[in-house]
Amino acid sequence: MTDPDAADRPFAITFVGGKGGVGKTTLAAAQALALADTGRRVLVMSTDPAHSLGDVLEAKLEDEPVQVAPGLWAAEPDPDAAVRRRIAQVLEDAHRAVPREVMPAVRRHLEQAGSSPGMAESALADLLVDRMEEVGSTWEALVVDSAPTGHLLRLLDLPALLTPWVVGLARRRERARRAEAFADVVGGEEESDPLLERLHARRHRLERAADRMRRDAVVRLVTLPRRMVLAETARAVERLTDSGFRLAPVVVNQIPAGHTSGPDTAEALAATRERFAHLGTVEIPLQETEPTGPGRLRALADHLAPR
Ligand SMILES: Nc1ncnc2c1ncn2[C@@H]1O[C@H](COP(=O)(O)OP(=O)(O)OP(=O)(O)O)[C@@H](O)[C@H]1O
Ligand SMILES: [Mg+2]
Repeated sequence: MTDPDAADRPFAITFVGGKGGVGKTTLAAAQALALADTGRRVLVMSTDPAHSLGDVLEAKLEDEPVQVAPGLWAAEPDPDAAVRRRIAQVLEDAHRAVPREVMPAVRRHLEQAGSSPGMAESALADLLVDRMEEVGSTWEALVVDSAPTGHLLRLLDLPALLTPWVVGLARRRERARRAEAFADVVGGEEESDPLLERLHARRHRLERAADRMRRDAVVRLVTLPRRMVLAETARAVERLTDSGFRLAPVVVNQIPAGHTSGPDTAEALAATRERFAHLGTVEIPLQETEPTGPGRLRALADHLAPR
């Protein structure tokens, strides 16, 4: 909040979050398309292991970005592939760092860890960090479609949570190296340690990502004109604000046309506007047909533009 230009600067990275089924994927795609239409080179990426971004864009997506419209690329990273890459990397490091007879145990441990949901989540977060690092070179804007709120919060917290862990690993490695050098008695010569270098590089990368998420990113929460959804959105706003994230105006999606909306909707809508008055709200009408494909998504995006 110390950046004086922040209010005028278009944020390069947008995380779209909110409760299950509110329209995150739809609006992430719509926003990315609208950004690409302004002439920027944009990547929209899903971090929900149950991908639906391709369905919304009506395109076949893959692990790697594919172009889906002028200026717009999209990706649905495959969590299994991300886990495999991660495991391969850890094994490679382990080969250099542990005695050969320990390797089978390391391999067994990694195979087990590889099937845990936590591993997929952290491998996807790693991939997100890679993409974030490409913003400014490969991409002018990145839009991240996330799984429901809890996942988004974990995703955003991950770099900060992982940093102390990596620092701890690096410290242990340094101690082990000193012990080895001592055992060698003469061992005065400082060889480089690829594992240690990798750990430090990883720490810097995570620190940069955690910093960048607060400096260059904005979180756009999507909500519905319903009391229960409002309550969850309000909690997410609180948590995100406390963690130092910037919030875009809250998107109230799927608002039924006046003549079809009952008193509950009207009341929830009024409460939502009031609750988020400090952030502003953007309202999107409930469409008669499911908004998929570039044409319908552009029509939705028109409502996202600040007035
Ligand atoms: N403004 C709208 N008008 C009509 N239908 C909408 C609107 N926004 C989203 N939808 C529809 O609502 C459904 C849920 O949307 P979407 O998949 O984007 O939500 P989500 O928040 O990403 O869901 P999940 O939490 O499962 O990832 C889809 O069928 C989508 O087409
Ligand atoms: Mg979704």
